[in-house]
Formats: sequence, C-alpha cells, structure tokens
Amino acid sequence: NRAIHLEANKCFPVVLPHDAITGDNCCPPLQSPFKFKDFKFKDYASSNSPLRVRKPCHLVDQEFIAKLEKGIALMKALPKDDPRSFYQQSKIHCAYCNGAYHQQHPFENLKIDVHDSWFFFPFHRWYLYFFERILGNLIGDPNFAMPFWSWDTIDGMQIPSYFTYHNSSLYHKLRHKNHMPPHIIDLLFFGNENFVSSQKQISFNIATMYKQMVLASTKEIFMGSPLRHGDESNPGIGSVELAPHNTVHTWVGAADTPNREDMGTFYTAARDPIFYPHHSNIDRMWAIWKKLGQGRRDYSDDEDWLDSTFFFYDENVNLVRVKVRDCLDTKKLGYVYQDVDLPWLNFQP
Ligand code: C2O
Repeated sequence: NRAIHLEANKCFPVVLPHDAITGDNCCPPLQSPFKFKDFKFKDYASSNSPLRVRKPCHLVDQEFIAKLEKGIALMKALPKDDPRSFYQQSKIHCAYCNGAYHQQHPFENLKIDVHDSWFFFPFHRWYLYFFERILGNLIGDPNFAMPFWSWDTIDGMQIPSYFTYHNSSLYHKLRHKNHMPPHIIDLLFFGNENFVSSQKQISFNIATMYKQMVLASTKEIFMGSPLRHGDESNPGIGSVELAPHNTVHTWVGAADTPNREDMGTFYTAARDPIFYPHHSNIDRMWAIWKKLGQGRRDYSDDEDWLDSTFFFYDENVNLVRVKVRDCLDTKKLGYVYQDVDLPWLNFQP
C-alpha cells in the first residue's frame, strides 16, 4: 500500500514565497507527550442529531449572519496558541500547502502539498468539517453549518456584502479593492481584468462552470492526479481546483501585494474569513459532481487514496487523525447542502 501517512509530530519550517510579506512558522501547537486519536464516526455524530444544512451565503437571514460573525469573532479572540483560534486554523492551510509536513519513511525528503492532486477535495473537506465544529461549539450551537459562497449561481457571483463591512469579524483588509460587491466575479480570473458587462461576465461564468463540472467526465480530470507514497507533490491539478478554485482565490486577493495576499496565495489564504465559504462551495461542487452520474466516480476503489491520513484538532482540542475514506459521504459527516439552482447544468455551448 502506498498511502501517505504524514507524521504530525514532525513539522518543519515552511517554504514561503521569496517576497512573502509576512513570515510565520505554520506548525500547530502540540501536546506533550504527543498524542492523538483516530477519527471514529460515533465520537462525532449521534444518530439522533439532525443533518446540518449548509446554506448559500446570499440566502441566509440576519440571525444567521450574526451567528457566523460571532463565531469568527470568538475564534479570533482565543489565545494565539489555542488550536481552535482563527490564527491557528488559518495556519493549517499554510502547513499543508507550504511543506511543513513530509512523507513518512523512507521518503522523508518529499514535502507534502495537498494541492494539485487527488488530496485537494478530501483535505479541504476535513479542514472545513473541523472548522465548522469548532465554530459551532464556540457559539453553543452544535447544529451550526458553514454557509457556501455560491459563485456558480447568478445571485452568488459577487462577494457577499456582509463580508465587507469594516466593523464585522468577516471583514478582511487585504482584498482586491475593485472587486467589492456588486462587482461580478470572473471565474476565469488569472490576473487580467475582463472589461465586459455584468451580463456577459455572468454568461462566461456559466460556460466556465459547465466546462469544469459537466465536461470533466473522469476522476483524473475532475479530482486531480494520484499522489502516492514516494511520489513528488503536485502531480496534476483537477478541473475545479484550477478554476473556479484558484481563480476565485486570485480574484479576491489584493492586487497591490507581491503574491495577491491574502486569498491569492497558499500561505495566507485562510486568514481571510471568505476562504471558508469559498471552500464550502468547492466542497459542494465535489458532492454535486458525484451526482452527475455517467461514471463520475472518485478514487473510491484506490486504497492508497482511501487510507491516506491528515491531522486536525477538534472542538475539544483533541488531535484527531482522519482518513480520506471517512469523508466521502457528507451525510455520514452529518451535513448536506441546500439545493440551489444550477444555471450551468444544462448550458448549451
Ligand atoms: Cu488549499 Cu483554496 O486552497
């Protein structure tokens, strides 16, 4: 078996871009002696708890927004060395993307990056799962569900306005100044502005979604390429990871920074609260893609993928080791996505 089992107690200084604007050690605090537990469904879901429903950002009410703001504010107020703090949560991304972890023996020389490979979807699903549980726990609502930024649907094609008010915990300074709402997002943004009407941009976006979702008919195209023990990181990117995933990151990040900090580069992306609803929608795209049928299956017959592991802190500050195989069904993890119109599904090229 060539599954990758990273060792959470061996965390190395990360490699940041040469012109990074802030430097950080991205390793999480560890208990001593080092200990962790393996994820078990029964520890996290009881059969009588209702499914949490993740809703689109543009359709939630004031009461929900207030909860979300409060949860993020509470995370930001925790001590910096608390694994549940917003600061530590954001560093998880840097650790798994900028090489803080290496593969297990005998390939300790190979750094792990969860991007551009078949780990993209499962890693971020687990990440958001624990983020959601921590936030829900802090506001005393175990049924709290992260919203999703539905940039694939017409009413969702701009930054949700409540992420842009200066006095909100959802506000973030380092963002592109000209991309504030109601500016329509460009889902194929690689750094150059598309000067077209909103109407045109919306049709481009729908065409992009169709191409990245519907035309991505195999797991290799959609999920990205296999990354096994002994392989170099970044073997090949999946369709949705390239766009809209990367492009939304780039589009949100500030234009006057060297790496489009914060959203536009791995080491800082998760410092912006919009990162989490963005990834909620990415996660939703994985769930939707599997339902498109016609042989669209993920790598669920490949033990190397299924057995690979990551580590996260849960809401009780237990370090938990999770396997890819346990995140394939969102219902088993206790959540579903609210159904929203998919304008791209029947797009005619
Ligand atoms: Cu780990 Cu949105 O990237």
